[in-house]
Amino acid sequence: MVLLDGKALSAKIKEELKEKNQFLKNKGIQSSLAVILVGDDMASQAYVNSKAKACEECGIKSLVYHLNKNTTQNELLALIHTLNHDDSVHGILVQLPLPSHICKDLVLESIISSKDVDGFHPINVGYLNLGLESGFLPCTPLGVMRLLKAYEIKLEGKDAVVIGASNIVGRPMATMLLNAGASVSICHIKTKDLKLYTQRADLIVVAAGSVNLLGKDGVKEGAIVIDVGINRLENGKIVGDVNFEEVSQKASYITPVPGGVGPMTIAMLLENTLKSAKNRLH
Ligand code: GUN
Repeated sequence: MVLLDGKALSAKIKEELKEKNQFLKNKGIQSSLAVILVGDDMASQAYVNSKAKACEECGIKSLVYHLNKNTTQNELLALIHTLNHDDSVHGILVQLPLPSHICKDLVLESIISSKDVDGFHPINVGYLNLGLESGFLPCTPLGVMRLLKAYEIKLEGKDAVVIGASNIVGRPMATMLLNAGASVSICHIKTKDLKLYTQRADLIVVAAGSVNLLGKDGVKEGAIVIDVGINRLENGKIVGDVNFEEVSQKASYITPVPGGVGPMTIAMLLENTLKSAKNRLH
């Protein structure tokens, strides 16, 4: 069994991004990412802090807008409008989830697609679904693809199963695997018999947010298992959706939690931000 070390790979990528950032700086471009957080969700605050910290590490300027939970939709849209037109800002990210009085879809669509480093705008989703590379790709599935590539795991012809159909992870993950030549099934909360899919899969990506969703009876010998889940147990321990003890005994490759997909997501956010900044050169 090989551990897919996202922590080590992301550190290597960040070193490369630091150099790319310096190259842009020498050309007079100070890359910058605006991160908007609405409300006081603790997990979201932690994610935003780690995104900002990672930016600073690579020399990318981070602008964090921490808005009150009572911020109106119009106030948020006005801020995004300003950032859309600010040439010194290359990436705009609105941390999800948003409070229930704000329409998430409207907000995500209001971010100009050329600064949508999360890859959530319908235009970027469209590029991905057409198999085109011109848009921005969502950071978590992109991080998974990069991890698979780094370990030279071939995807062509593989039977892949994605568990979870969210717009942030499951759907774009399935599309990226399809674009890479895998045969992809998407399972979700309504799937009648999950094991029917996972037991015959060569590659399983689990992004459901459910502790121990995948155990040893759910995987075949030699399967590649990617765990996107981040769950905090009552004792404070962070675990994924996969029963690591069990599944690692059968898997050929497996991601740890933490230290697998999580750090790759942040590295891809930085990469998307620099891609956007670089577009200014042309
Ligand atoms: N909330 C959970 N994951 C993400 C993400 O990748 N981007 C944003 N903006 N919010 C999230």
